[in-house]
Amino acid sequence: MEHRALSRLAAPAVAALLALTTACTGGTVHGRPGASGLRDPYFPKAGNGGYQVEHYELDLDYDPGDGLLHGTAVITSRAEQGLSSFNLDLSGLKVEGVTVQGAGARYNRTGNELTVRPAEDLEKGEVFVTEVDYSGRPKALTDADGAKEGWITTEDGAVGVGEPVGSMTWFPGNHHPSDKATYDITITVPKGYEAVSNGELRARTTQADGRTAFAWHSPEPMASYLATAVVGKYRVATGRTPSGVALYDAVAPGEAAASAGDLARVPEMVEWGAGRFGPYPFSTAGAIVLPAGTLAYALETQTRPVFSGAPGSEDLVLHELAHQWFGNSVSPKSWKDMWLNEGFATYAEWLWAEDHGGVSAQKRFEAFLAGDTEVDEGADSDWDAFPPAAPPGPEHISGNPVYFRGAMVLHRIRQEVGDEKFFALVRGWAAEHRHGNASTADFTAYAERQTGHDLKKVWDVWLYGKDSPR
Ligand code: ARG
Ligand code: ZN
Repeated sequence: MEHRALSRLAAPAVAALLALTTACTGGTVHGRPGASGLRDPYFPKAGNGGYQVEHYELDLDYDPGDGLLHGTAVITSRAEQGLSSFNLDLSGLKVEGVTVQGAGARYNRTGNELTVRPAEDLEKGEVFVTEVDYSGRPKALTDADGAKEGWITTEDGAVGVGEPVGSMTWFPGNHHPSDKATYDITITVPKGYEAVSNGELRARTTQADGRTAFAWHSPEPMASYLATAVVGKYRVATGRTPSGVALYDAVAPGEAAASAGDLARVPEMVEWGAGRFGPYPFSTAGAIVLPAGTLAYALETQTRPVFSGAPGSEDLVLHELAHQWFGNSVSPKSWKDMWLNEGFATYAEWLWAEDHGGVSAQKRFEAFLAGDTEVDEGADSDWDAFPPAAPPGPEHISGNPVYFRGAMVLHRIRQEVGDEKFFALVRGWAAEHRHGNASTADFTAYAERQTGHDLKKVWDVWLYGKDSPR
């Protein structure tokens, strides 16, 4: 509630400043509307222009009994231009009120855009606090590729997942990966339920009415598609990795036995990743195992990936962990850059196998070229159907070429530059953009600069080439 208090204090100060400006210039600040989208090549309306969010404080009150969510989002942002209005992305739900700097703001909704018109225009550079009160039964979205995301209910609870644009079904925000922010997510649930989110659990408070509030804090910047909120009956286990990263696992009771083996390897995987990719980017780690069948996929939600039922494979656990470096710390600038997430996470699986007595990355690369499914099940998939850096449409951003051919791009670089330069490149890349955003062009330029090799042929054939590289 810190921010709400701050917003009340800040309002008179802003009014005073505006009065001063008026006195000096003979007019008030003249803002213009912020853009309703960031023109992402695949999701042009995702995100909004004119401001960047610094911090989200989400208070979510959820009752699995009736599926009703009551939310308060206190969003601290910095204006990047003078703003007469700005947008937030929100899908479904009922908006009950909006304030900006503590003063009531007008708002209207069209599609997934919530347009907010503050009582006073905002100045370029101004840090301002928006509060949105909302409620309703959040819904799931169906992705372009048919998978479900957003708010998904389970038998005794729900999960909020975002990739790529599902987060707008459970909180208003600037929902594009290019705008990362820190988060405080507090989830209040009936007695007997657990609530799990990203980062560290700061407090677990039993309220006078018997309900429990779980206050989760993410001190490192997070793209909104990586936020999660999980409510239900879960078994919680805590611990630490050998180097001191705090672990928090929440496992659906029915999946506990089947998950135990794979989850037990997380500490070792965190340490291995730190050795290969550089320091683990976050202060916490762990996993959330949902009831089986909740989702059609696992997701690398920040610090604490979600699995739909027991992971069932060490590779999948490793994949989601590798995303913490590639995707979560180094996030894509747009959804076109997805291969920087998935190609790296897939290649990390190959490296893990190589380092643990499994098949070498070279052998796996060859198996893909030969379509040899004995070595890798994906080898006879449509991995060569399109260039990983240019998926043909939004339904393809999680397609096989993004994963497998993306990994093969990395292996091609390794073949060109040798192991020493390759691993220095991977570590350098994670360090260069730690907690930031990067594009494919950033990567290709960095790779050539860092290794001193001309890699144009690799980019032309493997990354951008429309033809199969086979
Ligand atoms: N990013 C997730 C992973 O780790 C997969 C998400 C799949 N989503 C989808 N709509 N197909 O690989
Ligand atoms: Zn992935």
